[in-house]
Amino acid sequence: MLLKLDQVTKEFRQSTGWGRPPKVFTALKDVSLSIREGESFGLVGESGSGKTTLTRCILRLEEITSGSIYFDGADLTRMSASEVRALRSQIQIVFQDPYASTTHA
Ligand SMILES: Nc1ncnc2c1ncn2[C@@H]1O[C@H](COP(=O)(O)OP(=O)(O)OP(=O)(O)O)[C@@H](O)[C@H]1O
Ligand SMILES: [Mg+2]
Repeated sequence: MLLKLDQVTKEFRQSTGWGRPPKVFTALKDVSLSIREGESFGLVGESGSGKTTLTRCILRLEEITSGSIYFDGADLTRMSASEVRALRSQIQIVFQDPYASTTHA
């Protein structure tokens, strides 16, 4: 398996002031999926369902709260910063460009 996510959970914590418990927002809960080499994988969901957050977690732009992410058998979530940098040539994001995706009449 090229990419394997095992029960990935991502919580965002927001402080609500001194002495108060932080507000916790669960953006991803127990997400598991596997993608084989050469396979195309489409992730579909309504706005705010967590597609971008999931992608940012795979790229280690966000730290996950629990679970594991394996790329080519190696646990991405336990890699050092320099190991993650070395993987940047193999895992990349194509950012959304609203102008590029709009048909101008
Ligand atoms: N840094 C953050 N702190 C707090 N909440 C966040 C943060 N980033 C994302 N969220 C929340 O996580 C949820 C998932 O957002 P995300 O951007 O991943 O959705 P999406 O599926 O990519 O939506 P869209 O289709 O609009 O791009 C949203 O409710 C969003 O408000
Ligand atoms: Mg998005």
